[in-house]
Formats: sequence, C-alpha cells, structure tokens
Amino acid sequence: MPSLAARVNRSRETAGPAEYVSRVCVVLVVYAAVAAYWPQHTRKVVSAVVFVLMASIVRYFLQDTMKRVSRIASPERQSLVDTVAGLRAYGPEARRANTRRRTLFGTMGLRHQRLARSIGYGSRLDEVDGALRRNADVAGRVAAAAERRHHVAPGELANAAAVRHLRVVELLKHFVRDWSADGKVERDITFPPILDALTAEFPDPAGRRVLVPGAGVGRLAYEICHRGFDTVANEYSHLMLLGTEFVLHSAKDAHTIYPYVHTFSYQAAADDQLRPVTFPDVAPEPEGRLRVVYGDFAEIADEYDAVVTLFFIDTAANMIQYIEAIHRLLRPGGLWINFGPLKYGSAPKVEFTLEEVLAIVPKLGFDLEKRWSAQAEYTPDSEKLWHGFYGLEGWTARRTT
Ligand SMILES: C[S@@+](CC[C@H](N)C(=O)[O-])C[C@H]1O[C@@H](n2cnc3c(N)ncnc32)[C@H](O)[C@@H]1O
Repeated sequence: MPSLAARVNRSRETAGPAEYVSRVCVVLVVYAAVAAYWPQHTRKVVSAVVFVLMASIVRYFLQDTMKRVSRIASPERQSLVDTVAGLRAYGPEARRANTRRRTLFGTMGLRHQRLARSIGYGSRLDEVDGALRRNADVAGRVAAAAERRHHVAPGELANAAAVRHLRVVELLKHFVRDWSADGKVERDITFPPILDALTAEFPDPAGRRVLVPGAGVGRLAYEICHRGFDTVANEYSHLMLLGTEFVLHSAKDAHTIYPYVHTFSYQAAADDQLRPVTFPDVAPEPEGRLRVVYGDFAEIADEYDAVVTLFFIDTAANMIQYIEAIHRLLRPGGLWINFGPLKYGSAPKVEFTLEEVLAIVPKLGFDLEKRWSAQAEYTPDSEKLWHGFYGLEGWTARRTT
C-alpha cells in the first residue's frame, strides 16, 4: 500500500489539460492511420475512440470539480487537514534529508569515506535513520489521534497541502520543552513568576477564569489549571493544538522521541545527538477545567479574571491591537501577566522597544504593577555546542478602565 505522502503527491500529479491535448493528438494520428489503411472500418473505430476520449475528458472535469469542492472546506478545516498531512509526511521528509546527507557523503573520495566510517560516521547515519523512524511513529500517532478526534476522512487528506516539515520538527521540540524532564530547566525559569503572580492575586482560585493565548503545547495552561483555575489554552496553530490534545490524552512516559537528531551542527558526541526523550513527564489527566480552543485569541468573545502571555506578544503584527484585545478579554480589575522576549516575527507593522511597550501599556487602560526579568533559552538542546539566550521581560498589568 503506498504511503500517505506518496498518495498526497500522486494526487497532485493527475492528468492536467496539457495531457488531454496530447491525448487528442494521439487520437488524430490513430484516425489518420485507420482512414488510410482500413477505410471501411473508419466510422466504427472513430466512434469508439471519440467515445473513450469523451469519457476521459468528462472524468477529468469530474475529478477536478471534486478536488475543488473538497478544497472549499473552511480555512480552519483545511488548516487542520494540512496539519495532519504534515504529520503523516514527517517520515518520508526526514528520510529524504538523511538520504541527501548520505549522497553528499558518497561524493567524497573513497579513502576519506573509509576514514570517516572507521570512526563511526556511517553507523551514526544509520542510527539517525532509526531515530527518525521512531519520531515518525510518534508523529503518526499524533496524526491518528487527530484523525479520530476530528473525523478526518482519507479523501480530505488526498487533497491536503502538508504543512512544512520544519514545523513538525518544532512540534517535537515543544513536546520536550513542555512535557519532558529535559524541558524542566527552561520551565523552571519561565513558569514560576507567572504561577506565583496568579496565586498571589487569587489565593482562592475556585471559579477564577484564566486565558492563555498562544499556549503552544499547553504545559503552562495545564499547570495553571492544576492549581485550581478554570483555564482556556488557546492556539491558532493546528500543529500546537493537535499536539496539546495528544499529550493531554497520553499516559505518563507513553512516548519516546529523538528531538535532537535533525541537527548535525554543534554536536559534541553521537550519543548527544541520538539521545531519546520520553514524554509526558506527568500524567495529564484530562480535566474539565482545562479547555483547548482553536483560533485567533483576539476573536474570543468572553471575559477572564486573568490573561497570561508567555513568549507571545512579539508574535503580533500590530502589538497595539494585541494589547487592546487583552484589555477587552479582561474583566475590569482583571490581571494581565506577561513574560517573554521582544523577538518580532516576519512582518510586524510596529516593533516597539521594551521602553516603548511599557509606555504604551498604561495608555491602553492598564496600570503596570510588578516587573521582573530573566534570561532563558527557548526549546534548547542542553548538550549542544551552541547556546542562545533571550532576555525575558515580565510584568503584571491591571485593567483599570
Ligand atoms: C512563540 S510561540 C509560544 C508558545 C507558548 N506560549 C510557549 O511559551 O511555548 C507563540 C505561539 O502563539 C501562537 N499564536 C500566534 N498568534 C496567535 C493568535 N493571534 N492567536 C492565538 N495563537 C497565536 C503561535 O501559533 C505559537 O504557537
């Protein structure tokens, strides 16, 4: 049975108009030959050929219409299906990258190849293949869970435009950061100031509602919920959303991935690159108080006691719009807790300095209360020979107007 990725690719390769023009040409040639050599049968043969040709053209237009109809799914549905297709395509894509590496290695002189193999380079490439297969297995499990939960039909997947491979690799790193023992170092820097601010504000969390926009794969939202708050983890990346749903329904230590295997740069030793990570490091029993909600947070029509943003506000195209949305989502007197860097995305309309952000927040109906700073990496590999730290700025701001 062909792999799903192969089927996805093949569906894009079905006959197009150019192929039908070439079929018409073939028919004309056949007609000319029949008319020349068997003039008495010309009419029958021509009728048969015209019939076959018409049937094939009708089939082409029917197929094309079916494809268009299935692509007319809502953008939200299409994004979900494209994400599932990307998860399914992880294996072939990852293999392709390692095959390219092997091919390049094969272009070295034989003496150099032998030397490299003598110190284990060849077997490292083989082990990377094995690790990628095990990652593909987990990506396949995330996809299968999503297909069941969201009733994704094979027909929908056949027309999907799979999300980029790199994004699926990022999802694996997010599993590590949020849900493994390896991610604890980073979580221990970023989570406590937020959780402390929340529990100081609401010593009795019962009935208090907290929104976490751009929640990633959901650990912070889970921790907030675990402390007794009614929590909404919001995401508009289906990859993150499906990842969150997957983890929240997994048993403790149910999955093992090899998240560091994709990068050959900055590796100190093969064992570092090939080390496995098991997740989740807790059993995140699905609790009624944690809801996972898809969509742009700015379109949520609800009111919360607190809005918590971690590594989030710099994703804004227009930060003023984000802060206004946070203001609208808070009840009067509600608390915004923010922590993160100012690393703007690809097309921001405005790129404020920290000083400018802190000057604009009070103009948008907030009182700035508490501030703190820290340094942390983001989804790092602790064993790598390269490290990059973000300067993180935190504050609480109370909605006043
Ligand atoms: C840098 S990541 C941080 C994720 C998470 N807060 C963490 O600390 O790991 C930012 C996340 O925000 C999500 N995001 C960006 N804009 C959003 C929006 N308008 N509404 C909801 N989610 C959004 C992205 O999909 C991405 O997962």
